[in-house]
Amino acid sequence: MRIGILLSGRGSNFKAIKAAIDNGEIKNAEIAAVISNKSDAAGLAYAKECGLKTVYLNHKDFDGREAYDREIVKHLSESGVDLVCLAGFMRIISPYFVEQYRNRIINIHPSLLPAFPGLDAQKQALDYGVKFAGCTVHFVDEKMDSGAIILQKCVPVKDDDTEETLSARILEEEHRAYPEAVRLIAEGRLKTEGRHVKIL
Ligand code: GRF
Repeated sequence: MRIGILLSGRGSNFKAIKAAIDNGEIKNAEIAAVISNKSDAAGLAYAKECGLKTVYLNHKDFDGREAYDREIVKHLSESGVDLVCLAGFMRIISPYFVEQYRNRIINIHPSLLPAFPGLDAQKQALDYGVKFAGCTVHFVDEKMDSGAIILQKCVPVKDDDTEETLSARILEEEHRAYPEAVRLIAEGRLKTEGRHVKIL
């Protein structure tokens, strides 16, 4: 399975997926390309250090969202990508992109969806006063943070949590959840029926 990673920043989830491939936890998979919309993304620099194929695409060079996404899809298909992993990619992707890779784009979000979609999910959870927070790996459809859920991991919220401490606790679980979801896909163990994803 050839994986395409899309990121905009730190890239810690990308690193977690790469580590799981390198240590044999995920078999029959390789990272075929890492694409960023930010030239200074730490994740892009790390991918270069690792000798992976990297692509930087500035959205300002394109006339609209779909034109930008067409270029991304072109790079993904040239690299023979089977699965697209959004890993902190801070752009909404177009219906065109979703259609080209239907059920083959996944994302990680730092909340227990459908609670707290969108930006600053950890702050939203804290402000709401929930007792448990977590992360969700899900398929990507046309709407934001709304596709079928592959897996979720839960963490407690402590009385003295700040956005930083809660985010750090959730991130540890993200680094378990994302590689696990990729492994299940690589092993062909997900069966999707509408919104329901069964692990075989
Ligand atoms: C993570 O919190 C992820 O859930 C969200 O964006 C952040 C990306 O972090 N979608 P990183 O770049 O993988 O370190």
